[in-house]
Amino acid sequence: MMQQLTRALLIALLSAAVLAQHDGMMHGGMAGMSMGNDTGCANLDICVTEPSRANCTLPFKLPHACSVSDATRLCNAMHFMTACSVAKACNTSGADWAKNALGPGRVNVSRSNADICRPFQHIVTVCRLDDGMSKMAGCAHYNTMCVNGSKVDMCSNVTGITALPTTKEVNTQVRSICEAKGAPGCEECMASWRAGKTWGDCDLLSVYSRLCSSSPDMKQCGAWNTMCQADPTLWVCRNYTGAAAATATSGPSAGNGTAVSARSAAGTALPAMFGFLMTLIAFVAFV
Ligand SMILES: *[C@@H]1O[C@H](CO)[C@@H](O)[C@H](O)[C@H]1NC(C)=O
Ligand SMILES: *[C@@H]1O[C@H](CO)[C@@H](O)[C@H](O)[C@H]1NC(C)=O
Ligand SMILES: *[C@@H]1O[C@H](CO)[C@@H](O)[C@H](O)[C@H]1NC(C)=O
Ligand SMILES: *[C@@H]1O[C@H](CO)[C@@H](O)[C@H](O)[C@H]1NC(C)=O
Ligand SMILES: *[C@@H]1O[C@H](CO)[C@@H](O)[C@H](O)[C@H]1NC(C)=O
Ligand SMILES: *[C@@H]1O[C@H](CO)[C@@H](O)[C@H](O)[C@H]1NC(C)=O
Ligand SMILES: *[C@@H]1O[C@H](CO)[C@@H](O)[C@H](O)[C@H]1NC(C)=O
Ligand SMILES: *[C@@H]1O[C@H](CO)[C@@H](O)[C@H](O)[C@H]1NC(C)=O
Repeated sequence: MMQQLTRALLIALLSAAVLAQHDGMMHGGMAGMSMGNDTGCANLDICVTEPSRANCTLPFKLPHACSVSDATRLCNAMHFMTACSVAKACNTSGADWAKNALGPGRVNVSRSNADICRPFQHIVTVCRLDDGMSKMAGCAHYNTMCVNGSKVDMCSNVTGITALPTTKEVNTQVRSICEAKGAPGCEECMASWRAGKTWGDCDLLSVYSRLCSSSPDMKQCGAWNTMCQADPTLWVCRNYTGAAAATATSGPSAGNGTAVSARSAAGTALPAMFGFLMTLIAFVAFV
């Protein structure tokens, strides 16, 4: 009982701190989604708090409405988290959480990860994979339901979006690039860092991708290259040419010369090369 109280208090304090630190948050991001309404999580099964019970195996799942509610809560609190950039891209493509997360629009976000727009996928990404984010209020159900020894299928089955870098990493690298040299996109983030805030109040992953699209060889772009290598079909990897260059050395013979020249011409000939590269990538992925 005491432990639960302490925990609740900690979570409350932490979310208050997050809110205070990030006062500009309601301006962008998931503005179209309503603020944390917990009604989707009313009357949850005991498996959410005691997941090691024998009957918590399939078909038990966290209700979809609760996943939507928790994911909304997370992205309202910190819209700049990498998972929330994904959620925003899903929404823009019509594959939003509440209605159509498995709809056709999700292929605009990633062609290789069919689950990329599901709200629970975003919860796992924030609460399990994203460095330092697991104490957020929107992780509370996840944290009790997915403890070690949980019998809940979603906890072991849903991996989170493993290709993504952590928000902390992206924040650090974007800040480093932007403080070294002004570049398009930086102006969206710089104001928060200048004001002494920890997090750039911008779509960090999108800005990172714009910066690294034009200069992929910058030392700060290591995490972008790693991400795009892991899933070159991510929407933020549209300008990534590394995969094409890498595939070409072992792939179809016609590919190599083209891919190499596209990479060296990155930033100038990119728009023209883009269609061809996507076709090539799709072809290679298909065979
Ligand atoms: C999400 O999509 C809905 C329409 O499906 C739209 O009304 C809303 O503005 C979108 N929100 C964001 C943050 O893009
Ligand atoms: C919260 O949920 C209730 C019941 O579904 C709904 O009537 C209300 O509009 C919601 N509030 C917000 C802020 O979304
Ligand atoms: C598991 O059993 C408990 C106690 O019998 C019950 O309250 C709960 O609803 C059950 N959960 C599932 C998912 O069957
Ligand atoms: C998403 O992809 C579909 C094809 O699956 C395309 O028709 C649509 O224009 C795309 N939407 C956006 C917002 O990019
Ligand atoms: C859960 O298990 C993993 C490995 O099995 C371990 O690394 C981790 O520390 C455990 N977490 C807790 C909270 O016990
Ligand atoms: C994950 O769950 C789905 C449906 O619940 C199932 O079809 C799939 O096989 C599961 N995957 C793994 C790796 O357990
Ligand atoms: C790709 O590069 C163009 C030109 O540099 C840029 O306008 C666009 O935002 C980039 N796309 C992505 C997804 O980063
Ligand atoms: C391209 O491939 C051809 C044979 O398929 C090879 O002879 C040539 O060296 C390759 N060029 C590069 C730059 O890898």
